[in-house]
Amino acid sequence: MATTLRNRDLVSMKDFTREEIERLLSVAGEMEPIARGEKLSRLLEGKILATLFFEPSTRTQFSFQAAMQRLGGSVIGFSDIKGSSMSKGEDFHDTIKVIDGYVDAIVIRHPRAGSAREAADIAGHPVINAGDGANEHPTQALLDLYTIRKEKGRIAGVKIALLGDIRHARSYHSFIPMLAMFGAELYFVSPKELEPPESLLADLMKEFNLKVKQYRDIMDVIGEVDVVRLIRVQKERFASEAEYNKIRGSYVINLDVLKHARRDMIILHGLPRIDELDRAVDDTPHAAYFRQAYNGVPVRMALLALLLGAR
Ligand code: NCD
Repeated sequence: MATTLRNRDLVSMKDFTREEIERLLSVAGEMEPIARGEKLSRLLEGKILATLFFEPSTRTQFSFQAAMQRLGGSVIGFSDIKGSSMSKGEDFHDTIKVIDGYVDAIVIRHPRAGSAREAADIAGHPVINAGDGANEHPTQALLDLYTIRKEKGRIAGVKIALLGDIRHARSYHSFIPMLAMFGAELYFVSPKELEPPESLLADLMKEFNLKVKQYRDIMDVIGEVDVVRLIRVQKERFASEAEYNKIRGSYVINLDVLKHARRDMIILHGLPRIDELDRAVDDTPHAAYFRQAYNGVPVRMALLALLLGAR
């Protein structure tokens, strides 16, 4: 069945079928020489992307900007509402409505869960969710998937430990359904307070026959898995500093932990890191997180090209 991503939104990972994700990963592969600057492209010449970051971002924002510009398009946007009329009280609806008239696609990150869907309903052009509160962050999940396939050659049957704040990690909430769909073997490792939301797993157990294996300590699975994906404790999602302090530092990947890992085990991290990933790990062959961060460019190039109908 021929599907097209032209003019579609990407708010939730559930918006895309498996075929559509496969297509995106394959276009991302073709984008590599352009992403590295070895080949010039004018695929999106004349197109304008808006990047609206109501929450801080480094990788997501800059890799979207790099992706658009590598394809010959241009970018406008803000990374702080102080620089927009929202600081004068203009509401969300009017802001999106007006910007939609200036550009061909919108990337939005916002602290409120559901805000990206709202923006997609307001805008006529494609809207891409770059993180809505603790809800979803589908493009991070796509680049994680792309990274695993690139590094391991496949996704089905790959043993992946998801370590850390699974409860609040929006990129995991997009990633988990996709991994289930592609047949990866998942190990959830977290303190009790940071376990995955039950509603998320219940659906996947039914739909994809996902077997849920939950652990408290990474040492229980480190010798078994092919990939460890970790994330910092999502401080901004806690009700108070005291709640956060109770849990911070409860998991860490360092050289001691890695002594027990398989030689070809890779570590992924969406970054930024706080204290859960020791810098000494950077110099080991396990560290794949800087390659992962780079992969955000070809993956977001593919997404922009497909949504804007250039591929
Ligand atoms: C993710 C985030 O901020 O939600 N990071 C990112 O976008 N670079 C966190 C993560 O996926 O590790």
